[in-house]
Amino acid sequence: MANSQSGAQSGRVVFLTGASSGLGEALAPLLARDGDRICVTARRAEALDALAARITEAGGVALPLALDVTDQAAVNAAVERCVRELGPIDTLVCNAGIGDATPAARFKASALESIYRTNVFGVAYCLEAVLPSMVERRSGHIVGVSSLAGYRGLPGNGAYASSKAAVTNLLESVRVEVQQYDIDVTTICPGFVKTPMTARNQFPMPFLMELEDAAEAMYEGIRARDTHVSFPWQLASIVKAARALPDAIYDRALKGKTAKKG
Ligand SMILES: NC(=O)c1ccc[n+]([C@@H]2O[C@H](COP(=O)([O-])OP(=O)(O)OC[C@H]3O[C@@H](n4cnc5c(N)ncnc54)[C@H](OP(=O)(O)O)[C@@H]3O)[C@@H](O)[C@H]2O)c1
Repeated sequence: MANSQSGAQSGRVVFLTGASSGLGEALAPLLARDGDRICVTARRAEALDALAARITEAGGVALPLALDVTDQAAVNAAVERCVRELGPIDTLVCNAGIGDATPAARFKASALESIYRTNVFGVAYCLEAVLPSMVERRSGHIVGVSSLAGYRGLPGNGAYASSKAAVTNLLESVRVEVQQYDIDVTTICPGFVKTPMTARNQFPMPFLMELEDAAEAMYEGIRARDTHVSFPWQLASIVKAARALPDAIYDRALKGKTAKKG
């Protein structure tokens, strides 16, 4: 059952993936603070229980549900349970994601498949489970956490970067289409943020952001229902400008680069 101290039934119902650490864990209390009833999901149940307890102590409502987003049947079951316990989902936040280095010289399709199963199919399964009800109710908000890494090819990170390019494009395709049903779509593209995901990186991370600042930027973009949220502005500007660079210049600038992970 949902943890609730106040018993409040106001606010939106939010279904959040990847809530057991990093950006999702930091975002959940910000949404709950406004009265949103939030279903916090990820694979690690203990971390979710601890997060739900913190939200409850602060007077919010949270339903912790263990969920692997690569399992479509499990996604459907979690969404059904969320609807049963909290009500129809107003806001879907697809935040769960993984990353790993995939250097081209040792390229493994299996590594790409694993990343796509979480980053792309995890989002797709959530969309399939949640969108029909939003279309029927002609209301809702889809939020997807993509990445600035998806703007151009990234040496050493082809699987991760291309998975995020797919997510960004998928969300934009859906956004344009579902505006006719009064459903908003927000694509969030963080740069480097201090989370367990980046803690393993052994390469320079320009404009590395504090977790709290990144979560606040996500929260504000979600509340404003912006179509795109990207941060930090310095890296976002560089990455957006890099899209306009001719291939020859881009290739020369990144020649010899690859990603090293711990
Ligand atoms: N940190 C950055 O610099 C950065 C930059 C750009 C984009 N992003 C994106 O931001 C999102 C959050 O990442 P983060 O930095 O906060 O990393 P993180 O701390 O490693 O969190 C990742 C979250 O995803 C969950 N997750 C992973 N695989 C899952 C699966 N199969 N099923 C369900 N949940 C799963 C993890 O929970 P469990 O392990 O408990 O399942 C965890 O809660 C990701 O989509 C990431 O690509 C991060």
